[in-house]
Amino acid sequence: MRFAVLASGNGSNLQAMIDAVQQGRIQAELVGVISNIPDAYALQRAKDAGIRALVVDHRQFADRDAFEAEMIAVLLNWQVDVIVLAGFMRVLTANFVNRFSGQLINIHPSLLPAYKGLNTHQRVLNTGDRFHGCTVHFVTAELDSGAAIAQSVLQVCPQDNVQSLKAKIHVLEHELYPRIMGWIAAGRVALLGNQAYLDGQPL
Ligand code: GRF
Repeated sequence: MRFAVLASGNGSNLQAMIDAVQQGRIQAELVGVISNIPDAYALQRAKDAGIRALVVDHRQFADRDAFEAEMIAVLLNWQVDVIVLAGFMRVLTANFVNRFSGQLINIHPSLLPAYKGLNTHQRVLNTGDRFHGCTVHFVTAELDSGAAIAQSVLQVCPQDNVQSLKAKIHVLEHELYPRIMGWIAAGRVALLGNQAYLDGQPL
């Protein structure tokens, strides 16, 4: 199976995937990384691993459709089976999302459906939640609303702050995302309508 990764930033999740593929924990190929940010460190991580790294800078396109058309052309050319969003900070339109329905996944730093959008750690602290976590989900046109595949949970401590939660969630993400990619590569995950299935059982 051929995975492409879209990333805008540091790419620590990408690194976890690279490591998992190299260690044989994901039986798949990372065929390329696309970033909309020219100096994203994710691109360097890809190059260091011998993976194609491509900039598709949204500021160079007249509008969102033209930006996405370029990414679609690249992804089709790479013959990708699954597109993995790993800190990709552009909202994708219905046109893009529907083009890759069931082939597009994301990781979000909250226990969805709680805390869609940004600043999840601060919002968890503001509410005084006892639990926090991250969610791997299929992507739909509505932000952070697609069918969940799996979540990891942690307990919020009284001394936690945004930085500590961010660090702890990253640790969970780096284990969860490659694990789910391994399931997908093994053909164990499917999307029917807006319901995800694992081994034929609804999740
Ligand atoms: C992660 O926390 C992920 O949940 C969110 O963006 C962050 C990306 O971090 N979607 P990194 O670039 O993988 O380090």
